[in-house]
Amino acid sequence: MSKFSVFNLPLISNQETPLSADAYRAIVDLVYEHSRIKLGNDKQALLSSRLGKRLRHLGLTSFDEYCALLRSHRAQDEIDELIDLISTNHTRFYREPDHFQFLTDKILPTLIPQLIAKRSNLRIWSAASSSGEEPYTLAIVLSEFLRAHPTIDWQIWASDISKTILDAAKKGIYRMDTVEPVPPDLLKRYFQKGVGSQAGNCRVKPELRDKVQYERVNLFQNEYPIPLKQHVIFCRNVMIYFDIPSRELAVKRLTRHLAPGGFLIVGHSESLMGIQHNLKSVRQGVYQLP
Ligand SMILES: C[S@@+](CC[C@H](N)C(=O)[O-])C[C@H]1O[C@@H](n2cnc3c(N)ncnc32)[C@H](O)[C@@H]1O
Repeated sequence: MSKFSVFNLPLISNQETPLSADAYRAIVDLVYEHSRIKLGNDKQALLSSRLGKRLRHLGLTSFDEYCALLRSHRAQDEIDELIDLISTNHTRFYREPDHFQFLTDKILPTLIPQLIAKRSNLRIWSAASSSGEEPYTLAIVLSEFLRAHPTIDWQIWASDISKTILDAAKKGIYRMDTVEPVPPDLLKRYFQKGVGSQAGNCRVKPELRDKVQYERVNLFQNEYPIPLKQHVIFCRNVMIYFDIPSRELAVKRLTRHLAPGGFLIVGHSESLMGIQHNLKSVRQGVYQLP
């Protein structure tokens, strides 16, 4: 006899709140207006599952009510929540490692003598830094490289549109399995192992955390609260969510923050093809201001 009787099983009800075409359009437009993230026509399922929980949390029963809330005078916090919920924060330590290799093999050996001659500090910005893995990888790479040049002062700026993700990044606490890409000797040098309620986690040591300054930045705001003359800007794996005019605008604004000869680095699946800019292509994903 079978151990299962399908006919006796209760039906699984689909509790998702229906998302009308009008509400979908309204949400897509609001997301674009505030972040330039371009949601295609095929993201209804994604939106309704990611936002369904939010509706229940707010005690709302329809997406029309949710849209009314988004348009109301107290909308800004809710729009921030919306962008947090729909944006992709996926990242990891040493992601696309050849960019870090290029930094140590090519950029830093040329830059360091210039900085020493000018008695200048080294500035790198991780724009769209998500939960901190990218800026902390940069901090480890710089800290290691500059052991041979202890007189050089350096600073990393890290920014993202999402306040929630920046709060997590500032804490610098990660599950042990997420730090696997960090070589064991560097893990020991730059991280502390969690104990008690933090068992299974580790934390970036305070001296390295202090080298990363976090700021909330929407790449489409007029002015960035980030110092000018950055030697390198990492802006990786975010351009893919923007349309061509938005990419062009972001690159134009980022370029304003580059030092002459500075580098803009985008993700492997991104390029500046099809947009106007005044940068020179150096290799895949790496551009330089002449
Ligand atoms: C996929 S993560 C990339 C993280 C990291 N750069 C990397 O390559 O691993 C994309 C990040 O871009 C942020 N983002 C999306 N739209 C943005 C905007 N308009 N301005 C600034 N950050 C944005 C998201 O919040 C998210 O944390």
